Amino acid sequence: MNTVTIDLQVNGTVHQITVAARTTLADLVRDHLDLTGTHLGCEHGVCGACTVLVDGAPTRACITLAASVDGGEVTTVEGLDGPVIDALRDAFSAEHGLQCGFCTPGMLVSCCDIVRRRPGASRQDIREELAGNICRCTGYVGIVDAVQRAMAELDQEVAR
Ligand code: FES
Ligand code: FES
Repeated sequence: MNTVTIDLQVNGTVHQITVAARTTLADLVRDHLDLTGTHLGCEHGVCGACTVLVDGAPTRACITLAASVDGGEVTTVEGLDGPVIDALRDAFSAEHGLQCGFCTPGMLVSCCDIVRRRPGASRQDIREELAGNICRCTGYVGIVDAVQRAMAELDQEVAR
């Protein structure tokens, strides 16, 4: 078996891990680091359930080779921290932005990115930004409402 040794930071902790060369980033965080909040749905880069941040950018962990992240910084849903994720967690709960929760880790990672990058995004903008995150049971109204609620909440905090 071909193996590779990868140095990377995950949720602020430095790791050196030797894995099979074909190991995906999703399998690395789930199977080697027990970070099972990164969900696997389609495993084809379509559903977004496996979304993590790599060097700050939303990335499909199921179609990203772990070796390609050597030297990089990964944030999984477990590592999200601060006012943006706090506001989103509250807003997802208040706006019924989830039911079964399977898509939710990927949604939260993508939504954090949207709130940070496009704080004034319209409903249509949010829908377009979330086009790569599929929810099979809640629909998207509650999720978009939650993103807008989190944005408004954060806006008020800045104004206070
Ligand atoms: S599991 Fe990665 S995009 Fe669906
Ligand atoms: S909450 Fe069930 S798939 Fe989105």
